Amino acid sequence: MNQPAVLFVCLGNICRSPLAEAAFRAEIGRAGIDAIVDSAGTGHWHVGAPPDRRAQAVAARHGIDITGYRARQVEEADFHRFTHVVALDEANLRDLREIRPGDAPARLSLLLDHVPGRMGDAVADPYYGDASGFDTTWRDVSDGARGLLESLMRSGR
Ligand code: 4NP
Repeated sequence: MNQPAVLFVCLGNICRSPLAEAAFRAEIGRAGIDAIVDSAGTGHWHVGAPPDRRAQAVAARHGIDITGYRARQVEEADFHRFTHVVALDEANLRDLREIRPGDAPARLSLLLDHVPGRMGDAVADPYYGDASGFDTTWRDVSDGARGLLESLMRSGR
């Protein structure tokens, strides 16, 4: 497998995509695989901000420190820098298709498309809900991270 470079993208880059980044980092760490991993948002509102406290808390409950992550907005160069750009929901995927340069090699996908039986499902936005929503988010992004790694290992890219 060539070294993958994976970018996870949600709306704000403070809830779902930092958790997807953290879960995927943990997954490749366990598998002993080297990859470039990052996350970004389609929106600009939270640029420079750390993950939402509830996202920090759920990551910490799973032994992962994401307090040093900082939000950034996705940019055209990302489609050249990353081999895989992975959206957390369908709206994110639509936005990514719009800003992707025509000649960019990055493969676009929806995170849960990599999970058998969850094709087309969104990782629901937990931002306006209560803290328990973040446990659901963690479960979804962990399943997605495992499925994505399996896809990458199976296809070799
Ligand atoms: P995220 O959640 O896309 O998972 O980071 C959100 C964070 C902030 C907002 C929306 C969703 N917001 O509207 O500010």
